[in-house]
Formats: sequence, structure tokens, C-alpha cells
Amino acid sequence: ALPTSVRLFEMAPRDGLQNEPGAIVPSATKIALIQRLASAGITHIEAASFVSPKWVPQMGDAAEVMRGIQRQPGVVYSALTPNLKGLENALAVGVEEVAVFGAASEAFSQKNINCSIADSLARFEPVLERAHQAGVRVRGYVSCVLGCPYEGDIAPAKVASVAKALYEMGCYEVSLGDTIGVGTPLAAKRMIEATRQHVPIEHLAAHFHDTYGMALANLYAVMEEGISVIDAATAGLGGCPYAKGASGNVATEDVLYLLEGLGIETGIDLQAIIDTAFWVTGELGRKPSSKVALAKGLI
Ligand code: HMG
Ligand code: MG
Repeated sequence: ALPTSVRLFEMAPRDGLQNEPGAIVPSATKIALIQRLASAGITHIEAASFVSPKWVPQMGDAAEVMRGIQRQPGVVYSALTPNLKGLENALAVGVEEVAVFGAASEAFSQKNINCSIADSLARFEPVLERAHQAGVRVRGYVSCVLGCPYEGDIAPAKVASVAKALYEMGCYEVSLGDTIGVGTPLAAKRMIEATRQHVPIEHLAAHFHDTYGMALANLYAVMEEGISVIDAATAGLGGCPYAKGASGNVATEDVLYLLEGLGIETGIDLQAIIDTAFWVTGELGRKPSSKVALAKGLI
């Protein structure tokens, strides 16, 4: 059965902007985007990434962005922290939730965070320990759950084992990333079936990119399996710097239109998200990539 409500985790400020080509997006634009998303009713926003600015220049202003946000009650503003250095930088500006990110593919782990899967898990342990000491919740990501740009197909058992490790380490939620958006519904279902044997379904989230236009179909399939937390990016912004050709996360407005049609509650104002999609892509000099924003823009 489908869930009656879904918690949407907004990715545009981080996953959306981390790979933006051309000029560095001004911190003020990022902050204004985050404010608009919160005003639209989004309660979880991945706002920044405390990674190496040599690796991901667009996220080099993470501290300024986190400091610049006017926090609204009931909204969680989280950030990526791949190691202790990133975590310390995040704690210094009062971040209340962070995320570590691993992969189900060895090759992708090497390209993305410069270490093996086993080394990454060992590196995350002290990050979780220190975060928990500071009262900060930690989310975990597994990338390449439905395919890898370097290794091709990924076995569901591989996804399950990395998700299990993150959950047992203390991640309150494990978000399963179809990083390059190659999945199809049956594969997505099988991946969830394997993973839920080790991590309770209510602690799993779906993080699907829309490269092949399959993200909504895949989300429907995994909601039938009991998934009720969905990562999405307004305007469909984004792509991964270490996965060439991969498009952005499924667009928030596309997900909301689907959920509204299914009678599934989110508490988010679809029109405000569409307005934000046009605003932010205007700032970036283009149009939203989502079907829903374009359709509503015409009607
Ligand atoms: P490394 O080079 O192996 O790290 O990078 P290192 O410890 O050897 O440090 C090298 C240099 O980086 C040093 O500086 C460190 O101080 C600095 P130097 O002495 O050369 O001047 N450094 C840092 N600076 C700032 N913040 C830090 C930090 N750590 C080290 N936290 C590292 C390892 C993980 C840092 C690097 O590989 C990195 O930053 N990778 C970024 C990868 C990334 O951001 N990818 C995109 C996000 S993941 C994603 O998009 C997928 C997801 O959306 C889910 C999905 O779709 O699947 C989550
Ligand atoms: Mg992603």
C-alpha cells in the first residue's frame, strides 16, 4: 500500500547547485533559495556541503551559507560532511544535522571520495561519534544503488550491505541514491526488498536522479514497498561532479504533482515551489527542467 504522507527532503541548494557549471553561484542566491524553500513548507533542506573546495568549488561557501540562513522553526537545515574536518567546520557554524556519503560501487567511491568503501565506512565512524557527542543527527547516503557510471550494474546485496553498515553505525536514515538515474521500477523494487531486510523501511529514503525520465515511476514502485521519505530538487537542478552526464534529482514539483494526485500529504505548497523553480533557474540563466514547472508556466 502507498504511504498516507511523505516527508520530502529538498536537495536543490546542495545536490542541485554543487555541479552548476560556470560562475560560482553567489551565497546570497543560495540563501534566498533556502528561505523560499522553507517558506513553501519544506521541512528538510540540504543546505550546504562541507567538502574540499578543490573538489567541489560551488560548495566552497558552505559556512557563509549556513551562517546566512534565517532559521525557521520546524525546519532542519543539513549539510554533507565526508570527514572530521568537514564535520568540525559544520559544527562551528551550528549545523544541526549532517550527512555522510558512501557508495555501493568501489570505483565510484574512489572517484567521489578518494577511498575504498571499507575505508569510507571506517572514516565515517569517528564522524558519527563526534556528531552524536555534539547532539547532531547523521543521515547516510549510498550512491550508485541502481547502477554505476564505471562498474555498470550493482547487485542489490551490495547496496544492502553498505546501507546496513551505515544504519548500524548510527545513521538515523539511509538515503538510497540512483546517482546516475539509470534505474527502472522493477530494479528499484528489488533493491529495496534486499535492503529492507537489514534496515527498517521507515529508516530508508529514495534519492533518485531523473536522467532517463524514470524517477517518478521508480518512486511509485518504492512507495508501494513502503518508502515514505523522498529526496528531490526544485527545478530538477543538479548532477553529480563525479558522474558525467547524470542529470539532477527528480524535480520537487514533479514529485508533488504525483503525490497530490495520489492524495498523499506533504504539507508543501506546489505553486510556491513552481515559482521558486522559475526564480532560481532565472538566476542561473535558464528554465526549469521539470515537466510540471513548464506545464504550469504555460497554463
Ligand atoms: P582527499 O584529497 O582524499 O582528502 O579528499 P585529504 O584528507 O587527503 O585532504 C586533502 C586536502 O583537502 C587537504 O588540503 C585537506 O585539508 C582538504 P591541503 O592540505 O591539500 O590544502 N580537505 C578539506 N577541505 C575542506 N573540507 C573538508 C576537507 N577534507 C579534506 N571536509 C575528500 C577526500 C572526501 C575531502 C574529497 O574527496 C572531497 O571533498 N570529495 C567531495 C565529493 C563530493 O562532494 N561529491 C558530491 C557529493 S556526493 C553526491 O552528490 C551523491 C549524493 O547526492 C547521493 C547520490 O546521488 O548518489 C549524496
Ligand atoms: Mg544525488
